[in-house]
Amino acid sequence: MKSEELFALLRRRGVLWPSAEIYGGAQGLYDYGPLGAALKRRIEEAWQSWFLGLSDDYYRIEPAEILPEAVWRASGHLENFTDPEVTCENCHRAFRADTVLEKLRPEGVDGLSTAQIGAILTECAVKCPSCGQAKLAMPAPFNMMFRVDWGVTGGERAYLQPETAQASYLAFPRMWDVGRRALPLGIAVIGHAYRNEIAPRQVLFRMRAFTQAELQIFFDPTSFPLPFASVAEEPLPVLRASDRERGELETRSVPARSLVESGGLPEFYVYHLLQTLRFYRDVLGFDPASIRLYEKSEKERAFYNRIQFDVEVRLESLGGYKELGAVHYRGDYDLGRHGQGSGKDLSVVPASGGRVLPHVLELTFGVDRNLWALADQGLVVEGERTAWHLPPYLAPVPVAVFPLLRKEHGAEADRLVELLREAGVPAVTDGAGSIGKRYARMDEAGTPFCLTVDGETVDPHHPNHGTVTLRERDSRAQVRLSPAAAIDRIRPMLRPPRPRLPASA
Ligand code: GAP
Repeated sequence: MKSEELFALLRRRGVLWPSAEIYGGAQGLYDYGPLGAALKRRIEEAWQSWFLGLSDDYYRIEPAEILPEAVWRASGHLENFTDPEVTCENCHRAFRADTVLEKLRPEGVDGLSTAQIGAILTECAVKCPSCGQAKLAMPAPFNMMFRVDWGVTGGERAYLQPETAQASYLAFPRMWDVGRRALPLGIAVIGHAYRNEIAPRQVLFRMRAFTQAELQIFFDPTSFPLPFASVAEEPLPVLRASDRERGELETRSVPARSLVESGGLPEFYVYHLLQTLRFYRDVLGFDPASIRLYEKSEKERAFYNRIQFDVEVRLESLGGYKELGAVHYRGDYDLGRHGQGSGKDLSVVPASGGRVLPHVLELTFGVDRNLWALADQGLVVEGERTAWHLPPYLAPVPVAVFPLLRKEHGAEADRLVELLREAGVPAVTDGAGSIGKRYARMDEAGTPFCLTVDGETVDPHHPNHGTVTLRERDSRAQVRLSPAAAIDRIRPMLRPPRPRLPASA
């Protein structure tokens, strides 16, 4: 589906819509309706189940989202968290300079400095996307953080967090004290990130306020024990920066072991890249052939990273591979900078001895982008029918109960909904329109199971008395069973997967 078509469908079903819609919409901001909010929550639960399942020493915290200026000075965001902005001297409109250039350079613009972008814009006499005049000024860095006044006088400054990661670095010494005082220690945050994007676009892909799920793993760089042997032969679809530099643009399937032995990557990095790949493939259920792990070169990667692979998924609605998450090896950059900025020594002495300034491995996900991608790949038009093929544990409404005839079967259907809810299975009832129309509504909402209460259910003399029909979304197969058997069948499928780790891990 094209982006506009997909957005129209999501808007019609109340999954999401532009914020402040009655004022014409607020650029880069979106509201989630009941289906969208439920789906988003389930993605977050699935993320937490998978990544906190990697270790008993990984914890989720809920920190503040506004932090004082000193934090952002130390983190490097005041200086480096910029995009190149270019203004038209004729119509005075501002644009992201790299986005303007992107249209002229199919090879991409990653890694070009602001000055290099400016030089190309001038040399090619690039025209203003708005008024069409070749009057673009030299681009300048534009800081993307939202500044807020702090306190009544407004004399001090604070910023809305542009990434959730920083709060975890600030929490590290406290978590060290309240935890087991052992490395590795993981701190996860699911929270909002705010970025004053110059050119918000592609609906959930470049937003000004969005949700990130990020896990920061603090570890001793000289020792990070992991069950690497258990994953050594598993292949990863990678596009290495060095291959791209040689003009090789095909994704290669490379065993984890080779990425370490001949690929120059550390074991701890490849292990977590693989766990991230598994999350995309086995938990979110993306088509494995559509996923690639795209390595950013030294020039392209974020200022704090030593190694960076983006998880990219091919999306029809956006015309190609799009970044949904990433694995960042940030080294000791963050704790080092915050140690200097705060004047506190952030090094620790683990039980194994020796003082160490922990390094950080960051697993980062944009929840909104992943939600869009699930709609892109999952919402399929099949003739007259549109079905959203979500794994059951991600479905906003896992079960719908239909009374065949509202008057005659409504009370029994209500009892069944209660029974399901008591058993921890979220369910709704829908008695409006023909059964076909009700299936169609639920298929489009991604509901994997529909239970129908009919004449046989309520007829005490019928052999099927007390049973209901279970219809499964993807196969459209129907079976008759008791409510208890239906619950037994459905309930295990609503638990998001956890990683299966070898006993010694
Ligand atoms: N802590 C690292 C960090 O913030 P990032 O690549 O800037 O790294 C991480 O962002 C993820 O957040 C991205 O992979 C993407 O999924 C999501 N993201 C970034 N900017 C976004 C935006 N403007 N709108 C929606 N999602 C965004």
